[in-house]
Amino acid sequence: MKGAKSVFRSDHIRWRVHAESPLARAKNGDARADVQGVASFYTMYWKKPMGKTHLAICTNISCMLCGAYQLYNYIKQTYHIGNGDVTPDGLLSLEEAECLGSCGTAPAMQVNNYEYVENLTLDKLKAFLKERGL
Ligand code: FES
Repeated sequence: MKGAKSVFRSDHIRWRVHAESPLARAKNGDARADVQGVASFYTMYWKKPMGKTHLAICTNISCMLCGAYQLYNYIKQTYHIGNGDVTPDGLLSLEEAECLGSCGTAPAMQVNNYEYVENLTLDKLKAFLKERGL
């Protein structure tokens, strides 16, 4: 699809959409099916503002077998958010992700679409959150 990368941008920190973009028009009910198709297929194109720190925890098979749900559920219970939710202060959002391509170092977590934390443990996750002031 021509120009898709310039239409949808999720910069490495926040979601944004240009006012004139087809996605912005989609909010007014004038969506192009091809644009919506791209945006809905790729999870890295957020459809709403996400948290300043966005955590995507892989729960696919390798990560699941290595304890990913313990990590995912820890975030859910500690911050009272579910999949795709943002904390009321906007500082943290959570996503249950499919394979992040890091199965050999499972469980894996992606931060803000660009940083990976691998061989994640509950202690490592807690330290990460503390380090980020969360
Ligand atoms: S299964 Fe989690 S990174 Fe592949």
